[in-house]
Amino acid sequence: MTAPSVSRLGRAGHWAIGLVVGVAVVALAGCTSIAAAPEWSPRAGAAAELVVTDTSAPASAPEQPSATVDATGIDVRLLYSANTAAPLAARWGEIPGNPTFTELSRARVTTAITEQSALSGIPYTPAADAPDIAPENRGCVPGSTTRPVAELLADTTLSAPGTGPRLTISCEILAAAGTLLVEALRITTASGDQVTSDQSTVYYAETSGAFVITSDTFLTDDGLRALLPRLVQSLKADDGAFDPAMQQSIDDFTLEQLRTWFSHLAFAPDGSLTVNVPAGFTTPELDALAAWRAGAAADGSHPPLTLTVPAADATALLSDQGRQVQAVLASGAPLALPPAPTRAQEQTDCALFACVALTFDDGPGDYTAQVLDDLDARRAAATFFLQGYRVAQNPDVVVRMLAEGHEIGNHSWNHPDLTKLTDEQIRDQLDRTGQAIQDAAGVRPTTFRPPYGAVDPRVLAQTELPAILWTVDTNDWRLPDDATLLDRAVAQPGVGAIVLLHDVHENTARMTPAIIDGLLGRGFTLVTVQQLLGGTLPAPHTTTSRG
Ligand code: NI
Repeated sequence: MTAPSVSRLGRAGHWAIGLVVGVAVVALAGCTSIAAAPEWSPRAGAAAELVVTDTSAPASAPEQPSATVDATGIDVRLLYSANTAAPLAARWGEIPGNPTFTELSRARVTTAITEQSALSGIPYTPAADAPDIAPENRGCVPGSTTRPVAELLADTTLSAPGTGPRLTISCEILAAAGTLLVEALRITTASGDQVTSDQSTVYYAETSGAFVITSDTFLTDDGLRALLPRLVQSLKADDGAFDPAMQQSIDDFTLEQLRTWFSHLAFAPDGSLTVNVPAGFTTPELDALAAWRAGAAADGSHPPLTLTVPAADATALLSDQGRQVQAVLASGAPLALPPAPTRAQEQTDCALFACVALTFDDGPGDYTAQVLDDLDARRAAATFFLQGYRVAQNPDVVVRMLAEGHEIGNHSWNHPDLTKLTDEQIRDQLDRTGQAIQDAAGVRPTTFRPPYGAVDPRVLAQTELPAILWTVDTNDWRLPDDATLLDRAVAQPGVGAIVLLHDVHENTARMTPAIIDGLLGRGFTLVTVQQLLGGTLPAPHTTTSRG
C-alpha cells in the first residue's frame, strides 16, 4: 500500500516532494534521483472518499508533451533588438483571422515593451538584428516557458543579451485540438543577468475568437469548495489518519483564498484535471500532521503540489467553459483554424514590427505564380510593379495578386525611359497600363515606378500617381551569383527598406524563398509598400526617396 506521491509540477523552479506513509521525504527539485512513484492504489477504508490522486510522473519525463503538438497555421511573431541598453527578444503565437487573441497577445507585449522603455529611457523602435534565426527555430519553443530562467536568458535565440533592462517573451504551444489552442506566454524581465520578474500565463483560445480564458475560470464556486476537503482528506489519508475527512468547515475559507490555491489547472488528454497548488498551501488541520510539517521548507512554507482529479470526478467541479475545454482537448481532433487572411490582407503595425517591403518589377512573367506561392507559404506580402503589355498576356496572375492582398503598381506599358518621352507619350505609357490592369483585375494602381528609376518633375507632372522608388537595389537583373544576391537582398535592408527585385528572372524567383527566409530570420515582417508607409501614399507629383 502506498501513498500518493505528489510530484513536481510543470513549472520551472518548483520543488518536488514525495509523501510516503509515515515519513515525509523532501527531494531536491530538478534532481534526477527522484524515484518514480509506485503506482497509486486506493487505501482500504478511505478509498471511496479519496478522489484526489497523484500524478506519479517519473521525474525524468518531459514536463509538457508540447514537442508533439502540431500547431500548423499558427503565426509566430518575432521581435528582436540587440541594443544592449534595452535588449529585447519576443516571440508569441497569433491565430490568423482571430483578432481577439491577437489583440490580447499584443497588448501584453506592448505593455511589457512600454515598461522596458520607461526603465531604459530609450524609446522603442523596431529593429531587425535577430541572430539569423533559421525557419525551424522561429516557432514557439517547447519547454521555453518552463525551463530555468538562467537557461532561458543564456539562449541567444530566445533572449537578447545586454546590460540594460532586458525583456524576454517566449511562447510554447501546450495543446492544440479542435477549436482550441493552449499557449503559454512567458514574460521575463531582467537587469543584465539579474531577474526582476518572470511570469507565465497559459491561455486557452477558442480559435475563431469566441473566447480567450485562463484556467482560473475552469472551476465553479462549488467546485472550488469541493476540492479543498478532498485534498485535505487525501493528505490526511497519506499520513495514515484513521478518519481522514476534513474536520474544518469549508465556510472558514473564502472563495478568494480557494481561488488562490486552485487556479492553475490543466487537462490531460484523458480528461483528467491536473491542479497545480502553489507553494504555501496549508490549513491548520494539515499543520497538525507531523509528516506535513516535515515536508515544509526551513521557513515553514510548503512546496507546490500537483494533484490529478480523474476525468469523471473533475466534470462535476467544472464550469461550462471548463467542461468545453475538457471535451475539446479530450477529442484529440486536429486543430481547426478560421479562414486565414494573408499577411498582405492584414493590418501591420510597422511601429511595432520591423517592416521591409519587397518589390518585384517588370512582370507578370513565367515565374510570378511561383513567387506568389513562396510569399504565401511564408506569410509574406509584396508589391508588384507591372508592365502593361505583360498584364494583357497574364491577366489571371494579376487577379491572384490582388486576391492575396499584394499591392500592384504601374511600371509603364513597355519599359521606356520616361524622361526621354514626350508628355503625351508618358501619359500614354501610364494610362494604357492602368487600363490594362483595370481590365484584368478591376482595380487601377495608385502608384507607379518609373522604369530605371528615371523620373523628373516633367514626368511627375503627367500623372496623379506618386512615384515609388527603392532604397536597396539588388541588381538581380545582372544575374549575380546566388550568394551575392542573398547578401544584397537579405543583409543590406534596414528597417523600412524598399528592396528592388525582378520576378521575370529565373535566379530571382529561385532565390525568393531564401530571401524571404533570410529576412524573416532577421526578425523582419514583409509588407506591401503601402503598409510600409503606414497606409499613406506620397502625394501626387512626388517620389519616395531612393537610397
Ligand atoms: Ni523595370
